[in-house]
Amino acid sequence: MASVQDIGVDLGTASVVIYGKGKGVVLNEPAVIAIERESRSVLAVGDEARRMVGRTPGTIVAMRPLGDGMIADFEMANAMLRYFVTKVVGKRLIGGPRIILSVPAGVNEMERHSLMTGLFEAGARRTQVMERPVAAAIGAGLPIGDAYGQMICDIGGGVTDIAVLSLGRVIVRETVKIGGDQFDDAIIRYIRRKHNLLVGERTAEDLKINIGSAIPRDEQFYMEITGRNLISGLPKVMRITSDEITEALDEPRQALLEAIHAVLEHTPAELVADIFEAGIVITGGGALLSGLAEAIALSLKVECRVADDPQECVARGCGLTLENWGEYGKFLGDRRKRG
Ligand SMILES: Nc1ncnc2c1ncn2[C@@H]1O[C@H](COP(=O)(O)OP(=O)(O)OP(=O)(O)O)[C@@H](O)[C@H]1O
Ligand SMILES: [Mg+2]
Repeated sequence: MASVQDIGVDLGTASVVIYGKGKGVVLNEPAVIAIERESRSVLAVGDEARRMVGRTPGTIVAMRPLGDGMIADFEMANAMLRYFVTKVVGKRLIGGPRIILSVPAGVNEMERHSLMTGLFEAGARRTQVMERPVAAAIGAGLPIGDAYGQMICDIGGGVTDIAVLSLGRVIVRETVKIGGDQFDDAIIRYIRRKHNLLVGERTAEDLKINIGSAIPRDEQFYMEITGRNLISGLPKVMRITSDEITEALDEPRQALLEAIHAVLEHTPAELVADIFEAGIVITGGGALLSGLAEAIALSLKVECRVADDPQECVARGCGLTLENWGEYGKFLGDRRKRG
């Protein structure tokens, strides 16, 4: 029998990423599930469900079961996780895969336990939870076992996890509710205020990804969008510039910089010295915002770099732990075996 695949799983607010041992990232889909409202039966998950958001009839609801770094609907989060895991490892689970799971900081002990129970029921042999910052640091290639202070900021959809690690342990950690979602919200508010135009979340996210920047760009970019004019109530096409998006992002960017600053203030002096020497590493999809690393570096006067494939770092860290058990296995949190 072919061996069942061991996997590392990042259950995020915006996306779920799975790393197969010896294979790399095998799944990266939006954390969205569509259900039938009455029966609560699952209709679609991931990419397919995302296309339904905002386009469903009253009897169907397409939702994100996690938000603000927490689980909003446990039953749906559990169903979504099981669906993705089964999609990757298949239904033949004799022997059962080992799973290392990373969850948002706001997921409490009871919910973690229930998620793991759900994975056992789906056939997992062994499930362990890895703390987000530790997984992100391993995935970013940081030598986390050293007695040396390293700062990692995982900027996700709902939250940013700011942590200082040394000897593979979290020394200081702060989770703030600022992430890609708050950037999108700020863009929606800005366009409504400035242009009397109402745009949806998808449009706001497209603007952020395509022309957004945390610092003013040398070269201006434009994007044409369609929104609803709040005065006439009719659709209107408009050109938005990258400088406008930079301005729109002013508030959440400032809040993020202050949060990182506060963590540095609470970090022991020796470790701060290490961080100023080695720089800050940012991960998560939010780290892809153009100019964000520069904005952090300018504001805090410390080097800052974006990890390679930042959005996949947490899942990669979990997967690399399975591949390099001797080196990273000791940095895992709680462990549970079936039976
Ligand atoms: N090129 C890009 N520029 C700016 N933002 C981006 C880019 N690509 C993705 N993002 C943003 O990254 C966010 C999702 O990041 P990620 O997938 O790491 O979140 P998550 O891990 O699911 O969330 P969390 O860690 O909060 O639970 C979204 O807000 C998305 O808009
Ligand atoms: Mg994340």
